[in-house]
Amino acid sequence: MDKLLITGGRTLEGEVPVSGAKNAALPIMCTALLTQDPLKLANVPALMDVRTMAQLLAQMGVEVGARSNGGIELRARTITNPEAPYELVKTMRASVLVLGPLLARCGQASVSLPGGCAIGARPVDQHLKGLQAMGARIEVEHGYLNARAERLRGARIALDLVTVTGTENLMMAATLAEGLTVLENAAREPEVADLARCLNAMGARIEGAGSDVIRIEGVRALCGAAHRVMPDRIESGTFLAAAAATGGRVRLLGAAPATLEATLQKLREAGARVAVAGDSIEIESDTRPLSVSLCTAPYPGFATDMQAQFMALDAIARGTALISETIFENRFMHALELQRLGADITIQGNTAVVKGVERLQGAKVMATDLRASASLVIAGLVAHGDTLIERIYHLDRGYESIEAKLAGLGARIERVN
Ligand code: EPZ
Repeated sequence: MDKLLITGGRTLEGEVPVSGAKNAALPIMCTALLTQDPLKLANVPALMDVRTMAQLLAQMGVEVGARSNGGIELRARTITNPEAPYELVKTMRASVLVLGPLLARCGQASVSLPGGCAIGARPVDQHLKGLQAMGARIEVEHGYLNARAERLRGARIALDLVTVTGTENLMMAATLAEGLTVLENAAREPEVADLARCLNAMGARIEGAGSDVIRIEGVRALCGAAHRVMPDRIESGTFLAAAAATGGRVRLLGAAPATLEATLQKLREAGARVAVAGDSIEIESDTRPLSVSLCTAPYPGFATDMQAQFMALDAIARGTALISETIFENRFMHALELQRLGADITIQGNTAVVKGVERLQGAKVMATDLRASASLVIAGLVAHGDTLIERIYHLDRGYESIEAKLAGLGARIERVN
C-alpha cells in the first residue's frame, strides 16, 4: 500500500497546471452511452475514478481508447451488458450515473445500489423519483436497482433537495425522452453546466443548466461530439489552500477562476492576496493565516469538497473558526486525524470549532476519504517534522500526480510503500 511521506515547514513557490475536473469528466464519460457515434474528450484527468468509469463502461460494451493528445475516445456502437456490477460500484459511487443514460438508450438497466460511504449514507432516492416520473419502473432486488422503460417521456420534476449527480442523471435521461422535461431545484454546480455543454454539442436541446431550473426537449437520437472537460475547481482550491497555509507564492495555470469564487473569497478573508488573470489564479501569503469560519452549501455557496482543506488551514490560523458542514452527515473524519498532528478541534453536531495553534507536529495519520486525504496533505506540509499518510488510494481517486505537482512547488513530499 502506498503512503505519502511529507517533511513540513517549506513554503510553496512557482506555477502548477490544473487538471480536468473529475466531477465533470465522470458524468461526461457516461454520455457516450447515449449515442452510437464516437465521443472525443480532451483534458480528462488521469485518475483512479476515471479508470474505474472507463472499466465500467467497457464491460457494458463501450469501446474506450486513449487519444494521442492525452484525452480519451469512447464509442457505444451497441450496449451488450446494461449492468453496473457491485464490484465496481462499491469502489466508486458515481457509477450510478450510468442509470439514466442506459434507460434512455436501451430501455433497461441493472445498477448495484451504491451503498454508503465514509462521508454519509448517500441515498439515491431523488434519482429514482425523477426516473419514475419519466415512466421508468424500478425494482430493488438483491442490492441491485433493476429498471425498465419502453421510452422515457418528459416530465416536470421538482427535486426535494439539491443533488448534483441526481440532476446529471435526470438531465442525461431526458435528452432522449419524448417531449419536455423540466428539472426544478436543480443543482447549479459548474460541472452540471459542463455536462450540458457536451450534451448540446451531441445534439441535445438543454436550456438553463447552471441555474436551478433546467429544461430539456427530448430528441430522437444524439450524435458524436468532441468536448474539452472544464478545469477542476476543487483541485484548484486545494492547491490555493495549501499555499495559504504554507506561505509563499503560487500561480495556477489553466484554471476557471469564476467557478471557485466562494473559495477565493475565503482565502482573502484568511489574509492571502489572490489575483485572477484570465485562466490563471495567483496567491501570495507571507503571514500566518487568519481563522476563517465557513458553512458549506450547494453551489455557488462554499463547496463541501473544500471543507476539509480549510479545516487544515484553520488548524494553524490565528484565532478560532467555526466550520459547519450542511451537505453530508459525517464529513469530519479528517478532524480526528488532524488532532493527531496537534490540531485543537472540537466537534459539536455538524459544526467543528477549530482553535488555531502555532504549529502542528508531524505524525503517522490515515486517510479516510478523498478530501480528508487532501486535508492531511496540507497539514503535513505545515507540520514540524515528518508526516506519513497511509491509505492514499483515497487521494489517487481525485488528484492527478499530487506529489509531483507539490514537489514542483518546493514541497518535500514523496510516495513510499
Ligand atoms: C457530488 O456527489 C460530488 N461527486 C461530490 O464530490 C460532492 O461532494 C457532492 O456532489 C456535493 O457537492 C460527483 O460529482 C461525482 P449530492 P453526489 O447528490 O451527487 C443527499 C468528491 O469529493 N441526497 O449532491 O453524490 C446526499 O446524501 C465527491 O469529489 C439524497 O438524500 O452528492 C447528500 O447529503 C464527494 N438523495 C446531499 O443530498 C439523493 O437522491 C447532496 O448529495 C441524492 C442526494
